[in-house]
Amino acid sequence: MSADHSNVDSVSPQSVTDRVRSYFDPATVGSLAVRLGELLQNHFEKLSRREGPVLNWNLPESNIAAAVESLKSERGDDVPQRFEQLVQLAFSKGHNLHHPRYVGHQVPASVPAAGLFDAVASVTNQVMAIYEMGPWATAVERALVNMWATQIGLKPGTFAGFVTNGGSLANLTALLTARNVVLGDVWESGFGAGRPQPVLVVQSDAHYCVARSAGILGIGTENIRRVPLDERRRMDVGALREILEELKQSQTPVVAVVAAACATPIGAFDPLDEIADVCEEFGVWMHVDAAHGGATAFSDQHRHLISGLERADSFICDAHKTLFVPALCAFVFYRNREHRFETFRQEASYLFDPSAPGMAEYDGGLLTIECTKHAATYGMWGITALYGKELFGDLIDHTFALTRRLYQLLSEADDFVTLHEPQCNIQVFRYQPAAVANWSAEQVGNLNRQIRRTIIESGEFYLVQTTDANGAGALRVCLMNPMTEEGDLRHLLDHIRKVGTSLINNASM
Ligand SMILES: Cc1ncc(COP(=O)(O)O)c(C=O)c1O
Repeated sequence: MSADHSNVDSVSPQSVTDRVRSYFDPATVGSLAVRLGELLQNHFEKLSRREGPVLNWNLPESNIAAAVESLKSERGDDVPQRFEQLVQLAFSKGHNLHHPRYVGHQVPASVPAAGLFDAVASVTNQVMAIYEMGPWATAVERALVNMWATQIGLKPGTFAGFVTNGGSLANLTALLTARNVVLGDVWESGFGAGRPQPVLVVQSDAHYCVARSAGILGIGTENIRRVPLDERRRMDVGALREILEELKQSQTPVVAVVAAACATPIGAFDPLDEIADVCEEFGVWMHVDAAHGGATAFSDQHRHLISGLERADSFICDAHKTLFVPALCAFVFYRNREHRFETFRQEASYLFDPSAPGMAEYDGGLLTIECTKHAATYGMWGITALYGKELFGDLIDHTFALTRRLYQLLSEADDFVTLHEPQCNIQVFRYQPAAVANWSAEQVGNLNRQIRRTIIESGEFYLVQTTDANGAGALRVCLMNPMTEEGDLRHLLDHIRKVGTSLINNASM
């Protein structure tokens, strides 16, 4: 039986109707998807041969001009041909995280199949807010929450968790819950006069999103108490105890103690078990930003780094970091499932159907800042189901071992200094040859910043910069591409030497 579409045509002129149908033409979708597959294969093959730049560096004005130019499509353009041109344009202007010489931010060369599963969610526009909007998205998210939480050591049936758009939003959401639970009625009453000023006690190297949370939550960034760090840049537990003792004496409410597993600058993991002991003793909410390190739960070799995470009242883990899935896919966990509805003590009756009250348990929008939320876990679900969760342990073990190798190479060289021994896949170091022996720490730091800028703009490698505890510049490598090899690391050091020598020579001329 053929469908009769004649009535549809009567609402618009024939030409409009024809065009509208062409945007949704199944045969076109199929042929574009096939072509995309071929283009992706070529792209990944080229990158695996280390061809072309890592970062396609262009000044923003030039890229924006190119983007504006690209918008000038002509009606009647050959769609498959134009599609191919645009995909190639995106490849040629973008950042090649899958290039083995990408050793940059805590954003991975994601497992490509995860992106394809994400494409299934995107092309079919799977979203969620209430269960019936995204039944499979909800089911998949719930299954992954359970898998990761139990991997971390939480007991089935006792915890709650969900996915949100990034680690920053995840920390904010969890700390909002902490604030509401700890301060009682502040959600309803606000911070009226007469209420004692609460504080947030945080690891000194905490990600800047934690300070933002303090601002957003009405705690105030000036009411953050930063816990000093030990010689390995981990939270000093003795200092934490002293701060909590002082706050107890002054009867200052503590919204939470925020620990890091690990902190961004050098990847230092706080001693979570010891922190949990102190938090329990003082009866304060423990939150852990495990955006980067939560994934070690999947590694027999490295899970000890997050021992004690299961004792935190709340914690967050980013799958779009060390589980190697595309951004964004951040998990929030509450140890006590009773806390899951404390974040927003709110009803939205048009969404949450009183005729099916049992469904509220599965309506993700009750737990997240987002109402409509992209089905962000298709990628993680797909690769877990395809390869088994052991893949995550493999990726962690492999990239952590490679980082240790980098550390050895740096330690053996007399023209490099390491700023720490790596606990994970982050290594901070400096190029510091004998020629700069008389330079100040600031000058050496600036030299390293210049080396990095020259290298990333050339496209040869992509690495990032950071500062040491005293503010001097340093190079930071995060091995987030499992295709990076030892040869690439040796080449990186040689390339830094080459660029560094030239900059030093120019400086002394
Ligand atoms: C420790 C830590 N927490 C939070 C974040 C923020 O995560 P997102 O970029 O997903 O918002 C980062 C980002 O690098 C991080 O390193």
